[in-house]
Amino acid sequence: MGSIIDGKAFADRLSESLKLEVASLIANHNLQPSIAVVLVGDDPASHVYVRNKVRRCEQLGIESIEHRLPSSTSQEELLTLIEQMNQDSNINGILVQLPVPDQIDDKAVIDAIAPEKDVDGFHILNAGALAVGQNQMIPCTPLGSLMLLKDQLGNLSGMHAVVIGRSNIVGKPMASLLLQENCTVTTVHSRTRNIEEICRTADILVAAVGIPRMVKADWVKEGATIIDVGINRIEEDGKSRLVGDVDFADVIDKVNAATPVPGGVGPMTIACLMYNTVAAAKKQAGIS
Ligand code: GUN
Repeated sequence: MGSIIDGKAFADRLSESLKLEVASLIANHNLQPSIAVVLVGDDPASHVYVRNKVRRCEQLGIESIEHRLPSSTSQEELLTLIEQMNQDSNINGILVQLPVPDQIDDKAVIDAIAPEKDVDGFHILNAGALAVGQNQMIPCTPLGSLMLLKDQLGNLSGMHAVVIGRSNIVGKPMASLLLQENCTVTTVHSRTRNIEEICRTADILVAAVGIPRMVKADWVKEGATIIDVGINRIEEDGKSRLVGDVDFADVIDKVNAATPVPGGVGPMTIACLMYNTVAAAKKQAGIS
């Protein structure tokens, strides 16, 4: 049986070290890192994500400023708020929870955030920097996934990594990070032919598609390491439960190691958001 990659334990360790760093920044530099979190509308999943992010901030001593705006908010109103926060030197990080309502163009919103405050790493300048290997702010989910892979496998050089999904939030930055680690990287997506066959050649398989339990045992190579980014809510046996893009029970006997859902990549995403916020605060204050 493969090992279960405990993302929650890793995230707790990272958070513990960030908590110490925050305490030291406050004591030695009078600097309390801060993040503004903006939630537009009433998407229930987004509310849960934002609540978890704010709670983590409190645990680590990071200041969080919440803006909850109605679903009728116009793009102009949101851009005005972002501009105010860009100018506010007491705010180190800005996060607008996605998705935003239809009347708002998410690209315009992301690119309105000052790149040095873009703790999501979604701004076009941060995305471009990552693509050319001059990393600035790295998106949290791929960063957390890479930390788990390196912790599990050490040097990733020469391994064949297959990333399922090509989103700007996960798939594309994940592929860039794995390339930087000298993996041979293949990105597969909804138009890929022979997707299962390609996945079966992966030493590292990262699933980020949003299809519940899509990856089965016959999709994976024996001894592969699996990172499941999916968080899908399904109804099963009369209960609501969270499942990944990988059929964990089906693959675990065949693989070297795999992340569970929940308790795998999810906690790492939040821990890396805290990591990016602390890094942004230090950089803005000129602390190395
Ligand atoms: N919605 C789903 N995931 C994310 C994320 O990582 N950041 C933001 N801002 N919105 C999201």
